Amino acid sequence: MEISKSYIINFKGYNFSSHVDMDLLENIENFETRDDDVFIITYPKSGTVWAQQLLSLIYFEEHRNGTENLETIYRVPFFEYSRYQIDIENRPSPRLFASHIPYYLAPKNLKNKKTKVIYIYRNPKDVLVSYFYFSNWVKVHEPTDTIEHYMEKFLDGKVVGSLWFDHIRGWYEHKHDFNILFMMYEDMKKDLRSSVLKMCSFLQKELSEEDMDAVVNQATFENMKSLPQANYTNIIKSQVGMRHQDGHFMRKGTIGDWKHHLTVEQSERFDRIFQRKMKGVPLEFIWD
Ligand code: A3P
Repeated sequence: MEISKSYIINFKGYNFSSHVDMDLLENIENFETRDDDVFIITYPKSGTVWAQQLLSLIYFEEHRNGTENLETIYRVPFFEYSRYQIDIENRPSPRLFASHIPYYLAPKNLKNKKTKVIYIYRNPKDVLVSYFYFSNWVKVHEPTDTIEHYMEKFLDGKVVGSLWFDHIRGWYEHKHDFNILFMMYEDMKKDLRSSVLKMCSFLQKELSEEDMDAVVNQATFENMKSLPQANYTNIIKSQVGMRHQDGHFMRKGTIGDWKHHLTVEQSERFDRIFQRKMKGVPLEFIWD
């Protein structure tokens, strides 16, 4: 199944959404990172906005200082998507970024091992389901009629983000080149406080008990669901566009939703491919 060219730009073997910043991409290798930059790296639908919310809460004092009304992309801009006219080069430090880039397109400087990278990963069956709904909702992604067809595209890497297996494998196998922390969506879901502690320890940020409570509380699914910024509500309405009114960025936020969508046969086929493609990658996954 082919993906329509109008939705993607393939740059050096990786599929970006067509509104990617080509000027940045052409020079991405030489982008000057700073030691105190923080990059969240994810494959799409793995908890990016969740991590953006957490990071901005940790850095901007739970948004007490007036950042509560800022759109997420102005707190933690998307590195490779420039449509919101953010001057990422001249932002004051510490700059916080979110990105879906594969390891081999990372700026050279990121290998100075000082700049911090947090890689969030999620079990790919839930990623697939989340992505299926998201792509049918927002206009910048190509819609697909059935999960069966979407699974074909996903397993062929014919989606923005290319092949899930390549993304995670690439970052994991090159982890020694970066100052990188791997965090799992499912761990965050099961024990958000421990995950935030882990994140803070990596970021060398010490929060008081009170601040920690505030961060954890503001980053639960229930609380984020009602936040327009976390749902990109204004951005989706005004810039991205949607095909229907029933979609939500904060859709379900659960572990194991794939069980409601994949047949036993589809799931077993997925498992076989997973076993083959992830051979030798000792990352743990939680499927339900
Ligand atoms: P679902 O579609 O399964 O609900 P991304 O930000 O990378 O696009 O990922 C979006 C997914 O993360 C959505 O998954 C969304 O609901 C989930 N998510 C975002 N914030 C969350 C939170 N606080 N707790 C749990 N899941 C969250």
